[in-house]
Amino acid sequence: MFEGERPTGTKPQIYRELALMAEGLFDGERDPIANAANLCALLWLGLAELNWVGFYFLRGSGLVLGPFQGKPACVRIEIGKGVCGSAAANGKTLIVPDVETFPGHIACDAASRSELVVPLRDGARLIGVLDLDSPSHARFDAEDANGVEALAALWVATSDRL
Ligand code: SME
Repeated sequence: MFEGERPTGTKPQIYRELALMAEGLFDGERDPIANAANLCALLWLGLAELNWVGFYFLRGSGLVLGPFQGKPACVRIEIGKGVCGSAAANGKTLIVPDVETFPGHIACDAASRSELVVPLRDGARLIGVLDLDSPSHARFDAEDANGVEALAALWVATSDRL
């Protein structure tokens, strides 16, 4: 499914290309775990400077680990805790240029230096977050946030609820 080289160009061009690839991967498939797993693989192979990318799903009152690429990670995160729990609590995308300065950051992989967390929403309802970690300081900016938000919205729109 992922042929050849990583997409190149400006960040918006890279994310547009990844969105087209994701549409191809999701075509005719509404299983949320399968589509989440493929989206992680696509981001992992398609984006430079990542050491972790994955889903956390809202289960009851907390977040639980879903499909991911990278090192084994913490399974449960309380809402309001860490970068993921804060993004979930506020329902807003969080770009953290330096995780060491983020109060309560949960260090699943000591290599992580910066982080981007996008809430997954079905209408007004929070259903989880998509988390990207990088070993590089300030790896993520507003263009990454826009691109990952579009991919997250595509996953929500094309996948059944868990
Ligand atoms: N660093 C995250 C925890 C998840 S891992 O990065 C995979 C946080 O602070 O929420």
